[in-house]
Amino acid sequence: MHHQQKTNTKPPSTSLTYDDASPQSRAIMPNPPTLAPVELAKSYRLLNHGPTTLVTSAHNGVRNVMAAAWAMPLDFDPPKVLVVVDSRTLTRELIEASGVFALNIPTRAIAETTLAVGTLSGRDGDKFDALGLATMPARTIDVPLVAGCAGWLECRVIPEPHNEKRYDLFIAEVTAAWADPALFSNGRWHFTDASSKTVHYLAGGAFFETGDAFTVEAKQP
Ligand SMILES: Cc1cc2nc3c(=O)[nH]c(=O)nc-3n(C[C@H](O)[C@H](O)[C@H](O)COP(=O)(O)O)c2cc1C
Repeated sequence: MHHQQKTNTKPPSTSLTYDDASPQSRAIMPNPPTLAPVELAKSYRLLNHGPTTLVTSAHNGVRNVMAAAWAMPLDFDPPKVLVVVDSRTLTRELIEASGVFALNIPTRAIAETTLAVGTLSGRDGDKFDALGLATMPARTIDVPLVAGCAGWLECRVIPEPHNEKRYDLFIAEVTAAWADPALFSNGRWHFTDASSKTVHYLAGGAFFETGDAFTVEAKQP
């Protein structure tokens, strides 16, 4: 059954602010306390350069975060994304129960955290508490967002049971998107320094940071 969720094409009009975060968490996550809404039609650009993501999820009072390198944009309008979530993860269980998740886009500054949430399982305890991660509430879904990231996509699963079961592949509609305005504005990334760059994962703790931006005109045939 193909179940298309209701689409919200307008960007959220106001910005998000931090939850009560401990002073310690704020020290670890030094981003500004507000996020700029990203026009949904441009939300795919948060993922277009292929960064590693953090998938946040929640259900029945249990919240979780895991790393996912296998996430990408799928469609412009309504914007859709896909992400591969292994069947053994707690994240998978929470997404299947709630039908929602968020893709948080971490920077190099929190690469160690990214590796940790991709190594530990929420089944062994709350990773937010264990790693001192501050969160913010999402606007359109009941899932925490990880503070200190560069961008955030709030996502609602479009059920495709075959893909989910056979390939661990989840397709979702983006219902809201946010970015740190210092790093992404007017539909473009503007990384300020190495620590603010998004990261790409190889394996075994090895990452690349996003490289220099450049623009070209199409080669004339
Ligand atoms: C950088 C990185 C990227 C990862 N990418 C994925 C991914 O795309 N899909 C996936 O299922 N697991 C991926 N993993 C593994 C999960 O993050 C890992 O299994 C995690 O411990 C699951 O946590 P949970 O049980 O709390 O949900 C990745 C791990 C790392 C370190």
